[in-house]
Amino acid sequence: MIILGSDHAGFELKEAIKKHLEEKGLNCIDKGTHSTDSVDYAPIAVKVSREVLANEGSLGVLCCGTGIGISIAANKVKGIRAACCSNVFCAKMTRMHNNANIIALGGRVTDIDTAKKMVDIFINTQFEGGRHQRRINQITAIENDEIDEI
Ligand code: RB5
Repeated sequence: MIILGSDHAGFELKEAIKKHLEEKGLNCIDKGTHSTDSVDYAPIAVKVSREVLANEGSLGVLCCGTGIGISIAANKVKGIRAACCSNVFCAKMTRMHNNANIIALGGRVTDIDTAKKMVDIFINTQFEGGRHQRRINQITAIENDEIDEI
């Protein structure tokens, strides 16, 4: 399941990605926004983040103007690893090495075709585990204020 969300600046990109994924038969949940009217990105980031955490195995797609603000907000939610990506290599590597559960994209940065490729590779790439799991565990420890254990 793919959970999507955007602010106004990412709305058109989010809609294009949703259509692309639905055409592939993927189950999508759209947490808004639903127009180009100006809206704040942080509440959308939190809604998508909570939905991703509530649905094991799901992944999220967040879009704002740059992908930056909405990823910063999502990364404040415990358990979320949101990667702001602008190329296919990073979209792949952030699944393999960071076990990212959300990809964040910029509607003012990335063209729609590249964004579709990034999302496709993001959702079709598996986490490699191994030494990368140790690093994820360290991030989780920071999140839980267990920094003595690092
Ligand atoms: C909205 O104008 C813009 O600031 C927002 O979409 C995003 O780019 C913030 O990081």
